[in-house]
Amino acid sequence: MQVKVVIGTIAFMLTMIILGYAALREPERLEHFTAAREGRTVETGAKLFFDNCATCHGVDGTAQECYDSLGNSIACQGLPLNNYFLVCGDTPARLEQTLFEGTKQQFIERTVAAGRSGTAMIAWSERYGGPMRDDQVKNVAAFVLNFANEELCAAEPISFNWPESVDDFFVMETEDFVAAPGDPENGAAVYTSFACNSCHGNVEEAGSNQIGPWLGDIEEVGATRVEGQTAVQYVYNSILHPNDYIAPDCATGPCIGPPSAMVQDLAFRMSNNPQDMVDLLAYLIGE
Ligand code: HEC
Ligand code: HEC
Repeated sequence: MQVKVVIGTIAFMLTMIILGYAALREPERLEHFTAAREGRTVETGAKLFFDNCATCHGVDGTAQECYDSLGNSIACQGLPLNNYFLVCGDTPARLEQTLFEGTKQQFIERTVAAGRSGTAMIAWSERYGGPMRDDQVKNVAAFVLNFANEELCAAEPISFNWPESVDDFFVMETEDFVAAPGDPENGAAVYTSFACNSCHGNVEEAGSNQIGPWLGDIEEVGATRVEGQTAVQYVYNSILHPNDYIAPDCATGPCIGPPSAMVQDLAFRMSNNPQDMVDLLAYLIGE
């Protein structure tokens, strides 16, 4: 009888020790589990990305190298997603530019789910007639967010300090940049390389605009848009700060915004070579 009690007590104590140990290990186990699940989410997202998004956003998400389904190199139509201003920090600059209130995860999930109307970025969620389930939208968004690694986010890319006044810009002389007289020929090339033509059409051909206003007469109408702004100041502002003023008439009706449907990151993208801005203005305004 006594032996049974002793055995029973020992068995009970052993059980408690094992349970206690398991309980202590639980957070660690959960952490492992969560990390594994996140890993799987990103992995599933990667496959979805290569199958559906890389044709426009590039094989590494930088929108520099794109291929069609036959493997031919084609021009990338999408914006860079593997990009400091979209994924780094708690509130990336892109959210502020588009006046988005929410987290970057929400920004990317919503953009993928609902698309951007009037652009090549279709709605991907079934809820909006697209091909993806909710979990797939989440997974591919997780993959995009995962571009935010230490290397990309270590330091803010150098961004040119655009003067407010275009006249100050034209006479700028700093260590990195000395403005040269505008070259309209290069300006025409810039107009195409920054895909202005995809929305604003050919300046030689009225009505060729698809999304934004036609810019063939911007030299005249630009001077009438904002009180106190010359045409060249207005165009300079429109490129750097598209949300400040919304033009009245777009290709298919009144322009929407703010936020403007115009690309929002030209101030960053043109920072690599500010002379492009001088040349572009020379092309559009003849200055
Ligand atoms: C047919 C080309 C195309 C495909 C395919 C495509 N996109 Fe896009 N995407 C675009 C374009 C163009 C834009 C910019 C739209 C605009 O002007 O605002 C864009 C914008 C985005 C943005 C917002 C970027 C920003 O800085 O605001 C995200 C995020 C995005 N795409 C993710 C995806 C994902 C994820 C997929 C795949 C499921 C995908 N895209 C497939 C063309 C495409
Ligand atoms: C994705 C489409 C898109 C691209 C690409 C784009 N824009 Fe725009 N742009 C718009 C839309 C839409 C508007 C009208 C809304 C507004 O005023 O912001 C606009 C407005 C403008 C205006 C004001 C026009 C007016 O009639 O008042 C100028 C100037 C302009 N864009 C210049 C450019 C230049 C230069 C580029 C290339 C460096 C460019 N845009 C690229 C869509 C685009």
